[in-house]
Amino acid sequence: MCGIVGYVGSKDAYSIVIDGLKKLEYRGYDSAGVAILKDNKIKLFKKEGRVANLEAMVAEEDITGTVGMGHTRWATHGEPCDKNAHPHYSNSKQIALIHNGIIENYAQLKKELVAKGYEFHSDTDSEVLVNFIDDIRINNGCTLEEAVRIALKRVTGAYVILLLDESVPNTIIAARKGSPLVIGIGQNEHFLGSDASPMLAYTKEVVYINDYELAIVKPDELILKNLGNETVTPFVQKLDMNLSQIEKGGFDHFMLKEIFEQPSTIFDSFRGRMDVEKNTITLSGMDAVLDKLDAAQRIIIVGCGTSWHAGLLAEYIIEELCRINVEVEYASEFRYRNPIITDKDFIIAVSQSGETADTLVALENAKEQGATLFGIVNVVGSSIARLTHAGMYTHAGPEIGVASTKAFTAQVVALILFALKLAKHRGTISDERFAELVNELNVVPEKVEWIVQNQVENIKAIATKYQEANDFLYLGRGYNFPIALEGALKLKEISYIHAEGYPAAEMKHGPIALVDETLPVVFVATKDRYHEKIVSNMQEIKARKGMLIAVASEGDTHTPEIADDVMFVPDADEIVGPILSTVALQLLSYYIGVEKDLDVDKPRNLAKSVTVE
Ligand code: AGP
Ligand code: GLU
Repeated sequence: MCGIVGYVGSKDAYSIVIDGLKKLEYRGYDSAGVAILKDNKIKLFKKEGRVANLEAMVAEEDITGTVGMGHTRWATHGEPCDKNAHPHYSNSKQIALIHNGIIENYAQLKKELVAKGYEFHSDTDSEVLVNFIDDIRINNGCTLEEAVRIALKRVTGAYVILLLDESVPNTIIAARKGSPLVIGIGQNEHFLGSDASPMLAYTKEVVYINDYELAIVKPDELILKNLGNETVTPFVQKLDMNLSQIEKGGFDHFMLKEIFEQPSTIFDSFRGRMDVEKNTITLSGMDAVLDKLDAAQRIIIVGCGTSWHAGLLAEYIIEELCRINVEVEYASEFRYRNPIITDKDFIIAVSQSGETADTLVALENAKEQGATLFGIVNVVGSSIARLTHAGMYTHAGPEIGVASTKAFTAQVVALILFALKLAKHRGTISDERFAELVNELNVVPEKVEWIVQNQVENIKAIATKYQEANDFLYLGRGYNFPIALEGALKLKEISYIHAEGYPAAEMKHGPIALVDETLPVVFVATKDRYHEKIVSNMQEIKARKGMLIAVASEGDTHTPEIADDVMFVPDADEIVGPILSTVALQLLSYYIGVEKDLDVDKPRNLAKSVTVE
């Protein structure tokens, strides 16, 4: 995810672009850049850090011109730094490109281009793309538009790209697949953006570009074509959203937007890593440390908060599939209790921000004692990502809501991929079970889509019914026990209601004394190996007049007979089912927080990243 802005017209392009980038910084902000086309020359400036850093860099430059484009980056390939910032020139320096998305087959394309003598000045997939396009343009002697069309038929992944060509004045070429692009229609001017926020001050007439469409944008002309070179009629819409609504994608809060983004962010977390047809999982970061995994006598998973919950779920999954001892540690405890660490230890750090102080220091201590560190991190180039020996990014995109939602489900997917690859490597999983879980993971996005499309009104009603409660219990067994903990944390964070997650069977050892007619008890009761036992636990609570709320599998008729209220999720294998249950509980905490009129994006006392001890 990143921010893209373009302008062609008669106004000063730079000021429109830089202002647009500031409005898009919520989409990604690890570096920024701008390119202006004037007198058949492309001037390009780019800088690590926020847009303000770029502004300071060009303050003394002559950067006038009426055609330009800009980019705020959310890195996926190549850590945040000046050279990896966009725009990227091709080797010929005749064209420049900005890109939002991931080019999955960039490595193969890069190999071919290097063999042809191309040089690369960055670590990004995007620089490969601009040279792949320019190579076609030069060798086929065709226009940039034609070269883009030919290139995109070979490229796999997700993209919005904007290109400038020194030989084609007053023109921006744009194309999209899988990432968003909006074109604003002005009077003898056009605006381009990842969303409509950069153009709102100038026009409310917009065209949302569709996948596999290519746009040739001039001040007085917008031509849309498909990759088959057939003209497409632009569908012009009138915007009726304000800036704040656009930033939130039309949702009331970033948290809700990010909950609804999960079908695509879960897909992005396994995109290019899992091939269902070939039944393979490719994790290059893991290949680099397989020898360390072979030598490991145990895996230690370290994290905080929601990330720790992902680690606890991974303990159950990795032990089940890989038959290796796994321990999960709160980073803040691990770093101080003087643990026994050897060079046979393999440590997985789970962190959305990659900057959590406790997790960082715990890792530094372990590294000093010879352990191998592997990061499951969302922010590319973050401190934890750079400290670890290897890792895999979760590709959830920037998470603005303080309460972690899409980052958590992306962490779980990454850890399931890790477990599956390790189990295959260790020979502890049958081909059939491996294939079954690959297929199960592959359909999780559509199952999450079913939840957010079919359960919102039901969950809203449950939230309204129980919003006044002072305490909640969240109970689960097995793979659903970590989800009970995560659901309780979400509720605490968002609604300030005390909530406790607990192993369901453990209730009878004391906590069941809490149960009476004022206590809502949320059971994660989806169909799995423990289902009959969890139903018995529900009976125990009901017998003591506790109010029963259940997350149940679609089609389950038994649980709704016992529970007072039920949130349904599609049936799924017990190893991927917790991802679905989490989404229902995210929605429950969100709607209770909204019912209580609280700031669900920025809850009191909390920080998005706890970079202090
Ligand atoms: C999750 O909703 C919280 N915001 C918090 O527990 C968070 O998971 C924790 O601070 C760890 O952050 P990290 O994943 O960035 O390391
Ligand atoms: N994959 C590209 C990069 O890492 C684009 C990332 C983005 O969407 O900002 O530079």
